[in-house]
Amino acid sequence: MKIIKLNAIDSTNTYLINLGKKETLLDKTIVVVERQNKGRGQLGATWQSKPMQSLTFSVFKRFESLPVSKLSSIAFAVSLGVHRALKEMLVPNMTIKWPNDIMSYSNKVAGVLIENQLKQNKIVSSVIGIGLNVNEESFDNLPQATSILMSTGKKHHLDEVLQLVSNSILNELERVEKEEYQKIKKEYEDALFRKNIISVFEDTKGNRFNGKIKGVSEAGELLLENDQEILKKYQLKEIKYLF
Ligand code: BTN
Repeated sequence: MKIIKLNAIDSTNTYLINLGKKETLLDKTIVVVERQNKGRGQLGATWQSKPMQSLTFSVFKRFESLPVSKLSSIAFAVSLGVHRALKEMLVPNMTIKWPNDIMSYSNKVAGVLIENQLKQNKIVSSVIGIGLNVNEESFDNLPQATSILMSTGKKHHLDEVLQLVSNSILNELERVEKEEYQKIKKEYEDALFRKNIISVFEDTKGNRFNGKIKGVSEAGELLLENDQEILKKYQLKEIKYLF
């Protein structure tokens, strides 16, 4: 594992993707930055982070022969990796809010942005970006955010958390390479936030409806059961989680 430490850049994901275009990256190269100025989140959102208090890093993972149909396994494995590492650090009531938010109770402690490099029908590599709240004592205007400190009462060295979380992610990704797809999917589903509990969702037309999360499809879509007990699949852009 090679770690590149930087003081300030726009986004660790962008940095690694661009570096990968210029040179052949070593498998498991990690870029971590103290101050990320233009952190990117899911669906074009931004990711705000406090320098010295939170971790913003990206992991470059190369794959030898992984079909594009296994993209979802990478996402499941990465979420599981972060989830497991935080559980080890005794963060309470941990779940994964589909697709990749890492939660303690109803608050988000970490976010994941995975960007894949494809060639023909193979996944050549992935850049896995992690934003993890570590030593924040509070958040302005983010009522649903928490940190490891806020949820456990303990401060942590950022370097130690980086080691723990990145090793845990890489361990889970090794399981993808060993083709443990079904096991990984099952473990991911077992960790899902509000699984089998009625929640309120909104579709792209603004219609609100009750649904129960039952799991995910092979492709990583959310499987929701409605009031009539009909199961439907949703992609990320198709549905909003309200409460
Ligand atoms: C989300 O929850 O929307 C995903 C947030 C991912 C943020 C991380 S921080 C490190 C890496 N670099 C980025 O620009 N984004 C990811």
